Amino acid sequence: MNAPAKTDNAELIVPEGVYAETVLSVTHYTDRLFRFRMTRPAGFRFRSGEFAMIGLMVGEKPIYRAYSIASPAWDEELEFFSIKVPDGPLTQHLQRIQPGDRVLMRKKPTGTLVLDALTPGKRLYMFSTGTGIAPFASLIRDPETYEKFEEVILTHTCREVAELKYGFDLVEEIRNHEFLNEIVGDKLKHYATVTREDYPFQGRITDLMESGKLYSDLGVPPLDPAVDRGMICGSSAMLKDTKALLEKAGLTEGANNKPAEFVIERAFVG
Ligand code: A2P
Repeated sequence: MNAPAKTDNAELIVPEGVYAETVLSVTHYTDRLFRFRMTRPAGFRFRSGEFAMIGLMVGEKPIYRAYSIASPAWDEELEFFSIKVPDGPLTQHLQRIQPGDRVLMRKKPTGTLVLDALTPGKRLYMFSTGTGIAPFASLIRDPETYEKFEEVILTHTCREVAELKYGFDLVEEIRNHEFLNEIVGDKLKHYATVTREDYPFQGRITDLMESGKLYSDLGVPPLDPAVDRGMICGSSAMLKDTKALLEKAGLTEGANNKPAEFVIERAFVG
């Protein structure tokens, strides 16, 4: 039998060196996707775009998976956007959490999708599929992104229209946020497409880059290594294909210790 996700008993075992935080809210988008917010430990610092190891006690044992932190570095709470896998070792339990439950988090965040890993540029592309939007949910809500780039383009491709809702909610939240809206202004463009349903914008992002439709829809010139920077987060096939297109356009891959024109997150949980 599955261990219950509810962990509000006094005997909750918290492994050493791990935070146990309280779930504040849970939003289910589809039968495959949900978002949750939890308390942020005092002293927990991270850079927007990084991921942390999130876990639950399942029976006697903690189970962890890498999760991008979807909230920005300045937020008092932590947000995560997760897939639900029916027999996924962690997500079969995590999808049943409720406000008041406790979630484990290892203390050290890390990751490559950080602004410091990119050389200066004018236009920042964030390419995402599915829950790969999570690190960008953090970065599009961070004022530093808009200090460093004149234009920020978030692409999000999912199989179905309902899976795009989290992205639309994020943009709406920015618009309704007095201080962020002023900073973001018209710098942020959200380009959402689906691949398996009718929708005004259709197709894989890689196909839309190759055909040039992405650029004509946005009214921007094709990729140029002199001004364009990229971040990619999605399934491993999507990472590989998008990376190939960025390299074909003359952009090179960077890392924390060697900033360049684009970065990839390989720790993604699909
Ligand atoms: P498609 O429906 O054509 O497979 P998934 O849920 O499998 O991770 O897919 C999320 C989205 O990413 C889907 O819209 C899917 O399109 C798209 N996708 C899958 N593989 C690739 C790839 N290699 N390059 C670009 N997009 C991809």
